[in-house]
Amino acid sequence: MNLLITGGAGFIGSNFIRYILKVNPGWKIVNYDKLTYAGNPENLLDLQNLPGYSFVRGDISDSAALSQVIQDHHIEAVINYAAETHVDRSINDPEAFLKTNVLGVHCLLEQVRKFKLKKFIQISTDEVFGSLAQGKFNEESSFHPSSPYAAAKAGGDLLVQAYFTTYTTPVIVTHSSNIYGPYQYPEKLLPLFITNLLEDKTVPLYGDGHHVREWLYIEDHCRAIEAILEHGVPGQVYNIGSGEEKTNVQVTEALLALFGKSTDQISFVPDRPGHDVRYAVDSQKISRELGWQPQVSFEQGLAATVEWYKQNPLWWSKIKNGEFKNYYAAQYLNYN
Ligand code: NAD
Ligand code: TYD
Repeated sequence: MNLLITGGAGFIGSNFIRYILKVNPGWKIVNYDKLTYAGNPENLLDLQNLPGYSFVRGDISDSAALSQVIQDHHIEAVINYAAETHVDRSINDPEAFLKTNVLGVHCLLEQVRKFKLKKFIQISTDEVFGSLAQGKFNEESSFHPSSPYAAAKAGGDLLVQAYFTTYTTPVIVTHSSNIYGPYQYPEKLLPLFITNLLEDKTVPLYGDGHHVREWLYIEDHCRAIEAILEHGVPGQVYNIGSGEEKTNVQVTEALLALFGKSTDQISFVPDRPGHDVRYAVDSQKISRELGWQPQVSFEQGLAATVEWYKQNPLWWSKIKNGEFKNYYAAQYLNYN
């Protein structure tokens, strides 16, 4: 298969490329990425000499460049990981979110339609559903996004579904819960807290820390996308979650225990505006129809993630000593 992975230099895309080339060494993967602050070519240094892997720098909003890549590499299917992804950045500056997560997705869809590609998978988030006190969101739940990030993703997802309804473009949308693991940019909760603890800094918990997220290990997510690529049905939506719901306080305490540190290391900072209290998705559809199940427990995934950040200090310290800015907590703490 000749596969175009957009946003493959970021956290989830780079893990997927490494995973899929291991499982299918004969496949041809083209990683098309704009290299924003979150895109890091070093995430795939180990693959750069593989004959089946190539990298093209480009924007998903650039129709001409996309057209060229699709023709040059005889692309058959696209998985779109490219997005602006951090909620706090979207609160500070929403425009880039609309450009990439809505208009960029439209541009990609047009290429998929024009070249009659076999499949387009839009990687999206459970945040489009908004906050939920009890129960779980299923694939039919309505969208109530809270942040500019979630609203822009919802806009992109609706456009993807409209292309199926209107043009029968073979598209699939996924709604994944919070994903964690190696190579995650250290602005998100887990890599920020892990690297802060490695630097002996405090960890900034928003509000009372009782917000709940459902934590899915990256390898389980890669397996889910593989199953969707191979067997997912065009026009369908699949939720992908682990069932591992934790409050942010629970996550932080689990981390502190791994580091042998006390709760003195926590700084409670003012809450994020519009902060969703809880996300939880029902993943029975992908289990029932595609046979996918998460295999890595939160304890196993967390230990593996901490170990990776311990073993790769150059990867994250370069980011944290460079342009990195913790956009929200920096207002309250004496570091970026
Ligand atoms: P990330 O921020 O680590 O990576 C995003 C990548 O997209 C970067 O490599 C960046 O350079 C690239 N990119 C951004 N704008 C681009 C553009 N206009 N053209 C081409 N490339 C561009 O994000 P991630 O955590 O890997 O997330 C990937 C996808 O998964 C996103 O669509 C996100 O909404 C979704 N998602 C993430 C999570 C999570 O917990 N991280 C959960 C559910 C869904
Ligand atoms: P985050 O990793 O930004 O993912 P999302 O907001 O997309 O779920 O945040 C996960 C949770 O952790 C969320 O409830 C906000 C909280 N959080 C903190 O308490 N402190 C922080 O410094 C960050 C980045 C997040």
